[in-house]
Amino acid sequence: MLDRFGRNIDYVRISLTDRCNLSCVYCMPKGVPIKFLDMSELLSIDEIYYICEILSDIGIKKIKLTGGEPLLRHDIIDVIQKIRSIKNIEKITLTTNGVLLDRYFDRLYENGIRDINMSLDSLNPQKYKQITNFKLDNIIKNLNHIISYKDMNIKINVVPINTQIDDVLALVELAKNTDIKVRFIEMMPIGYGNNFEFLSNEKILEIISNKYGNYKKSEKVHGNGPATYFSFENFKSDIGLISAVSHMFCDSCNRIRITCDGKLKPCLDYDSTLDIKELINQNINKHDLKEKIKNVIFNKPQSHNFLKNIITDKNNMLIKKDTRKMYQ
Ligand code: GTP
Ligand code: 5AD
Ligand code: SF4
Repeated sequence: MLDRFGRNIDYVRISLTDRCNLSCVYCMPKGVPIKFLDMSELLSIDEIYYICEILSDIGIKKIKLTGGEPLLRHDIIDVIQKIRSIKNIEKITLTTNGVLLDRYFDRLYENGIRDINMSLDSLNPQKYKQITNFKLDNIIKNLNHIISYKDMNIKINVVPINTQIDDVLALVELAKNTDIKVRFIEMMPIGYGNNFEFLSNEKILEIISNKYGNYKKSEKVHGNGPATYFSFENFKSDIGLISAVSHMFCDSCNRIRITCDGKLKPCLDYDSTLDIKELINQNINKHDLKEKIKNVIFNKPQSHNFLKNIITDKNNMLIKKDTRKMYQ
């Protein structure tokens, strides 16, 4: 469906859990007390199915499963099987930290998953350990396994953290030599992301072109998200940039989010939500729920306002910036 700015909203990001088996320094740093939701507060598989059915009726065609770490949901395969059966859902994709891919990949593949985004912020074992508190070896093993499936569409997500030229170039080698897309994501000032030095994507592009020369905007479309892709000569695959901070991509935004506790968020940056889980618990009928969801989508904010703490809503009221952390 179209929102009030004429943007076609056909992509939903569903968070399956707020929990994670890593503790990335910009997301859930070790030592910081974190209160995760109780299992009973998470959307159940039936609720996820019900919501996806409604969303598909109003034009959602692509579903991203994310988290926290989505593979921590024990029923992840059942969730995929159920939502795959919904009419008009063309694609289900997964964003994961890769830790549990050894356990789940075969079943994900059997159930039609061909698009996996994996977070991999550094190829330097010490740095990776410092960022995530986990061993890089295990992740690389899992990555190598999924690369061996030729019809897998794999994208690496890199959030630069204390990233030097050598680190960028090492990651870029993956796109040069394999079919993996490597995407650099500007650190967004959400949650603990506020605490790190910001490395712009412009700078990243400069580092890559200093070594590999000219590049051009790629004509290929990879995925459904906000990344812009660039191709370099003699590279097997493209480099992607997600420049949420330096170049807002809100004009072409196509997505909404459902938090793991069942709240509809029309924009990553705003706190205004529709508590779908609560409405379902109150036995709202399907038609009324659909109308409420349509109303939130229609009124999706024009753009994020990451760099300010206070924002203005459509009635010119000041509202406080979203306080949720990224994993939430
Ligand atoms: P595909 O291109 O389909 O793979 O989707 P994607 O790039 O949206 O997926 P992924 O889950 O890998 O997200 C990559 C990064 O983009 C994450 O840091 C997301 O938080 C960020 N991102 C995705 N959608 C939005 C958005 O609407 N606004 C902002 N600011 N960031 C977003
Ligand atoms: N800014 C940008 N990206 C972030 N991610 C988590 N927190 C932030 C942040 N503050 C990234 C993860 C993962 C993707 C889903 O979101 O590293 O790759
Ligand atoms: Fe887990 Fe992703 Fe947060 Fe890292 S950024 S702690 S992998 S949810």
